[in-house]
Amino acid sequence: MTVEPIRWRGDRLELLDQRLLPETLSYVTCRSAEEVAQAIRDMVVRGAPAIGCAAAFGVVLSKGGFEVLAKSRPTAVNLFWALERMGRAKDLEAEAKAIYEEDIAANRALGEFGAELIPNRARIMTHCNTGALATAGHGTALGIVRSSKGKKVTVIACETRPYLQGARLTAWECMQEGIPCTLITDSMAGHLMSRGEVDVVVVGADRIAANGDVANKIGTYALAVLAQRHGVPFYVAAPLSTFDPAITDGSQIPIEERPGDEVTGYRKTRWAPKGVQVRNPAFDVTPAELVTGIICEKGVVLRPDRDGIRKLLAS
Ligand code: MRU
Repeated sequence: MTVEPIRWRGDRLELLDQRLLPETLSYVTCRSAEEVAQAIRDMVVRGAPAIGCAAAFGVVLSKGGFEVLAKSRPTAVNLFWALERMGRAKDLEAEAKAIYEEDIAANRALGEFGAELIPNRARIMTHCNTGALATAGHGTALGIVRSSKGKKVTVIACETRPYLQGARLTAWECMQEGIPCTLITDSMAGHLMSRGEVDVVVVGADRIAANGDVANKIGTYALAVLAQRHGVPFYVAAPLSTFDPAITDGSQIPIEERPGDEVTGYRKTRWAPKGVQVRNPAFDVTPAELVTGIICEKGVVLRPDRDGIRKLLAS
């Protein structure tokens, strides 16, 4: 594994500070659930499975702290899934370690299933960051890219406005691993698809509803619509910890609204007029009908719907 976003040290949790990437590699140390919750809120650690793992270790640090951790971010269900598991556990440290190890194993397994769907020399478009940084390791959508390396695939990374996870994190991870990667702004995706320059789109997920609707990073829905228009397969890669069968469809998924200053500028630079009204929903919902298949550690659900998801979760 090349990057270690989450390091458990027995009495403390070290989180690679993803706000500073790609320029600086440094770790933030957390010694309580409150500090882990703060790190999740501040985007030190982000990505659905990584948030779940970090929260689990947060519970170990404070022998509790469920409430503060549950309030840190609302959309990725992995956080609540991990807290629920920790709530049932007798040995907290063993359970948190298991959540972490199982996430890596799930990503490797779904990577293999996904790789079977990827053609030789495929130009794979992806969005946000779904790599080792967003998980305990290997990655989901980017894990499929990793597992497909032998096929000489290339990546087209959408920069992912406004937080730039694609530009800062995915492009960096690909370069670290020697995976050929081309960075584009989000608005270039349709143009490239219309020219036949994209063979497949693979993205991750933050929450998948019982009917197969998928919440993922803002901009994913637009990519799915474009992919359908241009006959490009659109796959979603996510471990079972991202499924939320209690939510009947995507309209019920809570969508995080983030601070406006992420839209009006970046770090110290501001480009929008002071006082302008801003919206900043951090996620959107892609209806199941636009999804070619959902890839998880148990296999692939093609053309996902309520029935397909129910059978997958019961298997
Ligand atoms: O706001 P973020 O960076 O936490 O959003 C991350 C995403 O939307 C990812 O695509 C998703 O969590 C899947 S990561 C394996």
